[in-house]
Amino acid sequence: MKSRVVEQIVAGIKTTDGAGVNLRRIIGSPELNLLDPFLLLDEFKSDDKDDYIAGFPSHPHRGFETVTYLMHGAFRHRDSKGNEGHLRSGSVQWMTAGRGIIHSEMPEQEDGQVWGYQLWVNLPQKYKMTEPRYQDIPAEKIPVVEENGRMVKIIAGEYDGVEGPAESFFPISYFDVTLEANSSFRHPEPTNMNGFIYCYEGEVSVGPEETKVPVGRLAVMGDGDTVELSAGEAGGAFLFLAGERLEEPIARGGPFVMNTKGEVKQAFLDYQNGVLDK
Ligand code: CO
Repeated sequence: MKSRVVEQIVAGIKTTDGAGVNLRRIIGSPELNLLDPFLLLDEFKSDDKDDYIAGFPSHPHRGFETVTYLMHGAFRHRDSKGNEGHLRSGSVQWMTAGRGIIHSEMPEQEDGQVWGYQLWVNLPQKYKMTEPRYQDIPAEKIPVVEENGRMVKIIAGEYDGVEGPAESFFPISYFDVTLEANSSFRHPEPTNMNGFIYCYEGEVSVGPEETKVPVGRLAVMGDGDTVELSAGEAGGAFLFLAGERLEEPIARGGPFVMNTKGEVKQAFLDYQNGVLDK
């Protein structure tokens, strides 16, 4: 057994996206441009409607998946083909853009807190042009394992023999873990997977070196086959992500992520010509 140690701690940068939503970009910034297969991680968290009310009006995607986990609040999702979905506190939307989706993601509230995460998961070349697909997963469909002061919500992958509801094209683990004071978490994670944790409450210590990861920080996990964490007196909560490395060339152009520049160019052309989602 080789326990993974923290390779890098990332704070992210404040930025604006959509029609003027203030958020923090944690993956997809110069500090951590990419953690194959994860292309981007945004945190939006605010009690001030001016930070979120503008939302994300109609925009395209091709070549990857967007995974939105809404911790608190209400969002409405619509696409150009008439599909509609509602995100509520604790729910997940796992969207496969595949060959093309044009959608909007707008808040359905004018006050109160909005708090959520959007993760972009790359698709391997053979699935980049797959049929678009939505997996709308309400909070009550996400299994929870509670034991020894530890609560693990399993969105994707398997923890302690329990499978998460999200289907993915290659192995991905996505857990939301809460540790009470002086409790711990341990999970085997194969060596061919990259992984990170993002601490959103309290503080956690990672690996045999007990590297402290405070609230608001992402820790990139180094090589190994097991992840071990513990919390001190104050407890802690974190998102746990791991995904199989794709190790394919990546060409990015705004909302399109393909393997070559030519394919990105084609995506822009298809969008301009109104055939991206046809
Ligand atoms: Co989008």
